[in-house]
Amino acid sequence: MSAGESRTATAVAQPNIALVKYWGKRPDDPHNEPAVGSLSITLGDLATRTRVTFDPALERDACVLNGEQDGPGSARMVAALEALRREAGVALHAHVESENDFPTGAGLASSASGFAALVTAVDAALGTGWSPGRRSALARRLSGSAARSIFGGFVLLERTTEGRESEAVPLLDAGAWPLEVVVAVVSEGPKTTGSTEGMERSRRTSAYYPAWVGSSDADLAEGRAAVLARDFEALAAVAESSCMKMHAVIMTARPPLVYWRGATVECLHRVRELRAAGTPVFFTIDAGAQLKAVCLPGHAEGVAAALAEIPGVGRTLVSGLGAGARTVAEPA
Ligand code: PMV
Repeated sequence: MSAGESRTATAVAQPNIALVKYWGKRPDDPHNEPAVGSLSITLGDLATRTRVTFDPALERDACVLNGEQDGPGSARMVAALEALRREAGVALHAHVESENDFPTGAGLASSASGFAALVTAVDAALGTGWSPGRRSALARRLSGSAARSIFGGFVLLERTTEGRESEAVPLLDAGAWPLEVVVAVVSEGPKTTGSTEGMERSRRTSAYYPAWVGSSDADLAEGRAAVLARDFEALAAVAESSCMKMHAVIMTARPPLVYWRGATVECLHRVRELRAAGTPVFFTIDAGAQLKAVCLPGHAEGVAAALAEIPGVGRTLVSGLGAGARTVAEPA
């Protein structure tokens, strides 16, 4: 790229939901390595769109996130740009414009789709030629779950041995097992304790943390086998167990953390009642109050209607599974 030229690219990435959860970082690792592996599904009906322009005329980075210039997410975005620039060996500043087409505060990790889209757009704008695996590792450094949004469908992120960087790999295409997801939105407010702080507190203070890490490889193997066999009941069993174990660790930190609200627990009971009555559905909950119900194709509408009746559920979102992060054509 010649000195005076500006370079631009736009990428789209979609949020993902972990069925076997990531919670905890390897202490003293400079690259945000997870202490446990995870398995996720990438959602198809919600997306982040990010346009990056590297411009020699810029004296500093400028970020417009969901229409807001220099808002709350800007500092983290600028730090991410700094890291990616270093990796690419480029000194130019950039203008970043990023929009989610889903509501922030809906409990969908917008950092996952946001950083996956950023890495993909930076790669395309600078012509660095990073492989999908490399983009996944770079996205993971920015936010652990973002590594998984580089790929579509069912995605695996295994933990690595010391000194090696982890990157996600695709496990099964979305079309091969088109599960559906219903998000029951319980709380619209931002979470009180971010995942980095929550993970660190859990690692340092929960007596259950070693058991969580110690049982994670077995959970991941069980989840992987269930996906490859398209065994919904087996996936339900390991996903609900992984979710509850993660929250047990979170709740037993000192001081304890509780991400749930009352309606979260009511949703959990409703999902189990539905399953007992024959609906193929299971739940998972992340570091927030929203409950995500995962079901076999054709059941999302009924599950959404049942969850929408619960007092405290503001609204529901429904999504199928989708594709990995990709560049899109610039608007003419
Ligand atoms: O990527 P982070 O740092 O926002 O952590 C994500 C943690 C969970 O969403 C709770 C679990 C997961 O595996 O996505």
